[in-house]
Amino acid sequence: MLRPNPIREDRLSRPCRRTFILSLLFFSLLAVAAFAADDRPEGETIFLALGCRGCHRLGADGGSRGPALDGVGTRLAGSRLRELLIRHDPQAAMPTFSHLTEREREALLTYLRAL
Ligand code: HEC
Repeated sequence: MLRPNPIREDRLSRPCRRTFILSLLFFSLLAVAAFAADDRPEGETIFLALGCRGCHRLGADGGSRGPALDGVGTRLAGSRLRELLIRHDPQAAMPTFSHLTEREREALLTYLRAL
C-alpha cells in the first residue's frame, strides 16, 4: 500500500509556504508605499489617527467636548500648544498625549501652528 511520505510532503509544501510569505511581504511593502505616497502632511495624519477630531471641531466637522481648533495656531502660543501635548494632568478634560515621540509631536505642532 502506498502511504504519503511525511518528509516528502513537508518538502513539497515548502515552496508554497515561501510563496505565501513572499506575497505577504510584497503586500506589506505595497501598503507602506501607499501610506508614504499619501500627500497629507505627517502632522495631519497624526491628528486624524489620534482622534483629536472626536472632541474638537475643525471647519465643519468634529466633536464639541473641546474648543474648536480653527485658528488655534494664532490664538495660542507655540509653547502653550506644546505644553498641552506633553502635560500629564489626570484632572484635565483633554487626554494626555505624552506618549508621542519627539518627531510625532513636532509634526503635530507644525500642523496645529498652521491652523
Ligand atoms: C476626549 C476629548 C479630547 C480629545 C480626544 C482631544 N482633546 Fe484637545 N481638548 C479637550 C478639552 C476638553 C479641551 C479644553 C480643556 C483643556 O484644556 O483640557 C482641549 C483643549 C485643547 C487645545 C487648546 C484649545 C484652546 O483653544 O484653548 C488644543 C490645541 C487641543 N485640545 C488639541 C488637541 C489635539 C491636537 C488632540 C489630539 C492629539 C486633542 N486635542 C484631543 C478635549 C480633547
